Order: sequence, then structure tokens, then C-alpha cells
Amino acid sequence: MRGRLRLRWWGWVLVGLVVAGGGLALNFWSARSEFCGSCHTAMGSHYASWSASSHSSVKCLDCHSDPGWVGYYHSKADGVRNALEYFLGIHTRRRSEPPGRAACQRPGCHSDADLTAVGLAGAETHARHRGSVACVSCHGDVGHRDVAERRAVVPCSECHPSAQTP
Ligand code: HEC
Ligand code: HEC
Ligand code: HEC
Ligand code: HEC
Repeated sequence: MRGRLRLRWWGWVLVGLVVAGGGLALNFWSARSEFCGSCHTAMGSHYASWSASSHSSVKCLDCHSDPGWVGYYHSKADGVRNALEYFLGIHTRRRSEPPGRAACQRPGCHSDADLTAVGLAGAETHARHRGSVACVSCHGDVGHRDVAERRAVVPCSECHPSAQTP
């Protein structure tokens, strides 16, 4: 009797471990850029244009989620919804918010100090637009290169019609 109970107890622990391990594996596997590419290759050019971009060594999710666990799992939840739509064949052609400054400035990426460092191209522009304009409003092609409408750096005149010059 006692032996049986012990077995059951260990059985549950084992089941728990397997489930937790599976969940963790799924979590990491689904965060890989190749996983994103498994849909976003057939669906459009985003995997290819990412591979050709200056940020091909940055994971999709590091741009397409805000920093921190909340941002990460918010994106995961979006992903689950997208995956469901994909398998049901529904194409909403939803547009998402482009990555914001927070994603570009996550720890280990672009700090204000680096962006305004003497000698960096654009340092003065960065100092003038600190905290206000999203990075990708000016750097439209950072994540995806090859699409005509995304330019390397948006000209000042686009936002300042009074023709300010750098
Ligand atoms: C199972 C297929 C599938 C996988 C895997 C997938 N997506 Fe998507 N994704 C979709 C579908 C479907 C849409 C909805 C857009 C549409 O219908 O055109 C979408 C939309 C998006 C959008 C724009 C709209 C939104 O909801 O934000 C972004 C950004 C995006 N995906 C990024 C990613 C990233 C990053 C990954 C990897 C972590 C990923 N996707 C993995 C199917 C997928
Ligand atoms: C360096 C940051 C960065 C990385 C890395 C990145 N993206 Fe993007 N992505 C962007 C930006 C910025 C846009 C918005 C571009 C625009 O609107 O013209 C975008 C747009 C998209 C869209 C269209 C969203 C919409 O609402 O239409 C999809 C889908 C997408 N990316 C998927 C991916 C996938 C899949 C990967 C990895 C293979 C990836 N991205 C990697 C920055 C990034
Ligand atoms: C108002 C427009 C604007 C905004 C907003 C902006 N940048 Fe820039 N950035 C520029 C310009 C202009 C340059 C100079 C690049 C050139 O002339 O090719 C530059 C240069 C850079 C460079 C150096 C590129 C190189 O080739 O050395 C990096 C890195 C960079 N920006 C990152 C960022 C990040 C990260 C953000 C957001 C926190 C950001 N930028 C916001 C306009 C902007
Ligand atoms: C994507 C749109 C966009 C682009 C491109 C852009 N700006 Fe701006 N700029 C803004 C916005 C929005 C503000 C207001 C920011 C604020 O109030 O903090 C601003 C503010 C400024 C200011 C006043 C900030 C201050 O010092 O008080 C100057 C000067 C300026 N921009 C110059 C430039 C120059 C030079 C370029 C090109 C290298 C440029 N901008 C490109 C959107 C842009």
C-alpha cells in the first residue's frame, strides 16, 4: 500500500517534470527565428528580407516584442492567435504596431549613450529626437531589407517640410 502511494507520488512528479520540460522546450523552440520563418516564408517576404537586413543576427522576437516578460508573453499570445488563424486559413492581414524604441533599446542593444557618442553618424540627430520619435520611423529598413517603400534613412524633410538640413 505504502509502496504504491510512493510510486504514485513519484509518478506525478515525473508527469509534472515531463509537462514542464515540454512546455519549456516548446517555449524556446517557438522563439527561434526559423520557427517564425516556417510561416513567414510562404506567407510573404519577411523571413528573406530579414536575412538580407543589417539585423539578420537579431532574433525576430527581440524586435517584435517589448522588453521584459510581459512584452515577451504578450507577443507569444499574439503568436498563438496568428498560428490558429494560419491553420484555419483565415488571413486577416492585420497590421501590427512597428517595434518601438523600447525594443531597440532593450538591454544589450542601443543605449542613449551609444547613440549620441561623439563620432557616430547621426549622433546629433539622435540627441535631438531622444525619447520622442520611434527609431524605425527614421530607420525604416533595419529589420527587413528589399522592399522599395522602406528606405535606409528617412530624409528630414519628410517630417520637417520646412526643409531643415542635417
Ligand atoms: C503558424 C504560422 C505562424 C508562425 C509560426 C508565426 N506567425 Fe506571425 N503571423 C501569422 C499569421 C496568420 C499572421 C496574421 C497576418 C495575416 O493574416 O496576414 C501573422 C502576423 C504576424 C505579424 C503582424 C501582425 C501581428 O499580429 O503582430 C508579425 C509582426 C508576426 N506575425 C511576427 C511573427 C514572429 C516574430 C514569429 C515567431 C516568433 C511568428 N510571427 C510566427 C502566422 C504565423
Ligand atoms: C531589427 C528589428 C527587426 C527584426 C530582427 C525583425 N523585424 Fe519584422 N519588422 C520590423 C519593422 C521595423 C517592421 C515594420 C516595417 C514597416 O512597417 O515597413 C517589421 C514588420 C514585420 C512584419 C509585418 C507586420 C505588419 O503589421 O504588416 C512581419 C510579419 C514581420 N516583421 C516578421 C518578422 C519575422 C518573421 C522576423 C524574423 C525572421 C522579423 N520580422 C525580424 C523589425 C524587425
Ligand atoms: C529623426 C531620425 C532618427 C531617429 C528617430 C533615430 N535615428 Fe539613428 N540615425 C539617423 C541618421 C540620420 C543617422 C546617420 C546615418 C546615415 O547618415 O547613414 C543615424 C545613424 C544611426 C546609427 C549608426 C549607423 C551606422 O551606420 O553607423 C545607429 C546604430 C542608429 N542610428 C540607431 C538608432 C536607434 C537605435 C534609434 C532609436 C533609439 C535611432 N537610431 C533613432 C536618424 C535617426
Ligand atoms: C520620422 C519623423 C522625423 C524625421 C525623419 C526627422 N524628424 Fe526632427 N523631429 C521630429 C519630431 C516629431 C520632433 C519633435 C520632437 C520633440 O518634440 O521632442 C522633431 C524635432 C526636431 C528638432 C527640434 C528638437 C530640439 O532640439 O528641440 C530638430 C532641430 C529636428 N527635429 C531636426 C531634424 C533633422 C536635422 C532631421 C534629419 C536628420 C530630422 N529632424 C528628421 C520628427 C522627425
